[in-house]
Amino acid sequence: MLSEVTDQNFPNSDMKFFLAINVFILLLLNVSCIDLPYYKKEVRNWRSIYPDSSRPEFSVYLIGDAGSPSLTTQEPTLKLLEQTINGDTNSAVIFLGDNIYFDGMPASSASSREKQEAKLIEQLKIFADYKGQVFLVAGNHDWDYMKEGGLKAIKRQEAFVENYLKRDNSFVPDNACPGPFITKVHPQIALAAIDSQWWLHKYVKPYGASGDCEAEDEDDMIVQLKDFFDNNKNRHKLIVAHHPLYSNGNHGGYYPFMDYLFPLRIIRKNLYVPLPGIGAIYPLYRKFGGVDQDISHYKYQYFKSRITSTIQEHENLIYAAGHDHNLQLHTEGKINHVVSGAGSRLNPVSGGGNALYTQRAKGFARINYYHSGQAWIEYWIPEGDGSEGTIKFRHKLYEKKRAVHWSCFVPCLKKTIKTLRSQWLHPVNIRLPNCISFYLETTTGKTGFNLSPFPMSILVVMREV
Ligand SMILES: [Fe+2]
Repeated sequence: MLSEVTDQNFPNSDMKFFLAINVFILLLLNVSCIDLPYYKKEVRNWRSIYPDSSRPEFSVYLIGDAGSPSLTTQEPTLKLLEQTINGDTNSAVIFLGDNIYFDGMPASSASSREKQEAKLIEQLKIFADYKGQVFLVAGNHDWDYMKEGGLKAIKRQEAFVENYLKRDNSFVPDNACPGPFITKVHPQIALAAIDSQWWLHKYVKPYGASGDCEAEDEDDMIVQLKDFFDNNKNRHKLIVAHHPLYSNGNHGGYYPFMDYLFPLRIIRKNLYVPLPGIGAIYPLYRKFGGVDQDISHYKYQYFKSRITSTIQEHENLIYAAGHDHNLQLHTEGKINHVVSGAGSRLNPVSGGGNALYTQRAKGFARINYYHSGQAWIEYWIPEGDGSEGTIKFRHKLYEKKRAVHWSCFVPCLKKTIKTLRSQWLHPVNIRLPNCISFYLETTTGKTGFNLSPFPMSILVVMREV
């Protein structure tokens, strides 16, 4: 009788074998499919679509979470980046935070200081011969992994980076302030750098009148972000921060099936300790907002809602971040959201939602700005030791509309036209400060712009630079 009950309620040896095979297949799937890219249906023909020029006017390289590089042989992603940027003078490289794992830059007296410096130097040394611009923003790991010592760790890293690079202000925003740090990396490309961990940090940070920051609190920061848009209406706009506003990775609540079965893999990737049932608690805790580094957490939601409501109506805008260790592109309304957090580590990522492309692979993103006004993105992944790399996705993000500033046209033109009279027989370029470039062509009999008292009519063709 006992044996009958056992046979009915528990799997026999065939069933056990079947279950074992299934688990094995799941393991294989988990291992073998992690590097396959996801492409949304409408962009699956991306390989046959190219920009209208082979030479960008300016490029911005985006790499995040590079703070855990190999210290023995050069990290392939960094090697590929170094080779790509050398010779590309018209460019900028931006590290998107988590520049030093696991807990940022320690005090100079700490026993771990030398090793932590080495992780940073591994990244900074790629700029030895680089003629472009370099910026680093901070991530949660740089803030002493969200602990009490975060503020001091950020200031130590800023001092070290700027002393090492000797390129003036490279670690931005300054002094662990929230930002935005605003600059133009090109006359037509405005950059705003945000310290997103400042919004989430629960220990001491610059805040209020005594904080020594231009933005005293969240409202101040948002006002300055609005100013960024007001002052750069006709420019490309790039916002960089560590925390993404959209993600299909762990921080966006995605955990693959294997993480529910072997949850300790979330902590250490090879820790295959089966905890079926109970193992689901941790991923679900994260998924439903238990950790402030995840998008679902109420503090993160506050950061996301304030930034989103400020930027969502603007065009010609890219928001780029790291944090999740993979490569992603999302489009939400008018805005392109880039996740490029695969500088040295990897986490799983799913497709779907508003994602056009996702991939669990180390690499970086490159935004190319063309003279036509188009902005394209490329995702680069190193091959082998990083001597070579391949583009795994390319996509046109937007095309900036041409705008004419009539208010500055006449005074600027009158000022410069006199010096150019001798060249009127040939097309000439006039670059006007804070305006647009005018391409003047002498002409007769066409619809023109009559600039009396000058003796000929001039057809004015305007184009942005
Ligand atoms: Fe992070």
